[in-house]
Amino acid sequence: MNILIIGSGGREYSIALALKDDEQVDKIYFAPGNGATCDLGENLDISDFEELSLFAKNNSIGLTIVGPEAPLVAGIVDVFKSYNLTIFGSSKLASQLEGSKIFMKNFLKKYNIPTAAFIETDDKKVASEFIDTLSLPIVVKADGLCGGKGVIIANSREEAKKASSDMLSGESFGDAGKSIIIEEFLDGYELSVFAICDGENYKLLPAAQDHKRLLDKDLGPNTGGMGAYAPTPLIDENLYKEIEEKVVKPTLYGMKKDGIPYEGVLFMGLMIVDGEVKVLEYNVRFGDPECEVLMPLIKSSVFDLFYKGATGNLDNLNIEMSDEYAVGIVMSSKDYPYKSSIASEIIVDEIVLDELKEKAHIVYAGVSREDGKLFASGGRVLLCIGIGKNIKEARDLAYLMAGQVHFAGKHYRTDIAYQALS
Ligand code: AMP
Ligand code: GLY
Repeated sequence: MNILIIGSGGREYSIALALKDDEQVDKIYFAPGNGATCDLGENLDISDFEELSLFAKNNSIGLTIVGPEAPLVAGIVDVFKSYNLTIFGSSKLASQLEGSKIFMKNFLKKYNIPTAAFIETDDKKVASEFIDTLSLPIVVKADGLCGGKGVIIANSREEAKKASSDMLSGESFGDAGKSIIIEEFLDGYELSVFAICDGENYKLLPAAQDHKRLLDKDLGPNTGGMGAYAPTPLIDENLYKEIEEKVVKPTLYGMKKDGIPYEGVLFMGLMIVDGEVKVLEYNVRFGDPECEVLMPLIKSSVFDLFYKGATGNLDNLNIEMSDEYAVGIVMSSKDYPYKSSIASEIIVDEIVLDELKEKAHIVYAGVSREDGKLFASGGRVLLCIGIGKNIKEARDLAYLMAGQVHFAGKHYRTDIAYQALS
């Protein structure tokens, strides 16, 4: 069957790589895709959900997979389903788990899922009084989607009060900050855990770790993610069990009970505090770059996983994971994440080493194409992925690959997976 992938990043490129050799998959379309996805299929210049649904109807699209959160929160799944199309992703109402931090926190509270103590408010005075009761640092979060920038970790009460009043006045994030969450700071280590869900059943994938800061040693500004690896040794069988019992099962139960069964990828941003799991946030999609390291580790059919997820049939699916590890290094453009950079041509050396040919690959993200050449045109341009018997081997291959890739102003961290290797 034909597949439609919504999105344009490395996440969507890596999903296509995992699908393209599956015998059940014919042609892959991307909307909108990027300058390299056209090597894996065909890019479409359509963004309207009704128009996309008609395209899917008329082009034998048997499965649509939604990468990013924005179309999910805007209700693409509901529109496709109204045309009886099969689509993998969460409904508009279920996507509030990511689209509204207040919805999410109240859901966690209602179903006793562990999370940081918090209040929600739209009142500066209430915010200020609660801030006075918390110890430092203090976390202030805008309710709505802010492109990953809506969380402030304040090191003084004054800073927390200023952040909350700037949000509430609409100054920092417009309407997305008109209501806020103020919560206690959790001190631990973070894990990203993903469950593929069909409304009732789920399949848990191995935990991955992202690297949010721009520079080595976790310095510099926050980014969308500068690299990831999976599986991480920071989790053991007991912790997986605890995550399933305390987070995944009650989430699926609660969503179903509330009449908005959860279908799609449930991304749990977790903080492990003294061995106990707490939910920082949910996202309703794969993490990027986490997706890029998880996809090559799924040995069974990725098509089956998404298709059965989209059709309520995950209970009779066995997924088989590779026993290897994957490390992904993000290469970003010169001025990321501050501003866009001048597009520069990407040159990849001819790959001559067999181990690189077999155990490494490039995932393209912020790239455009002109006269057949690829240009670095976005913030996060591409990823070099290495696969190995252990994390060190995978990381060495990813960095070896990174040495073969050139464009003006390229930047990457040199310490991806350091927590697993130290
Ligand atoms: P969120 O979008 O809610 O995941 O927040 C973005 C990042 O802020 C997280 O990945 C954490 O690194 C950090 N963060 C959010 N909430 C807390 C908290 N309560 N305690 C400590 N760090 C937090
Ligand atoms: N890598 C984190 C995210 O996609 O939100």
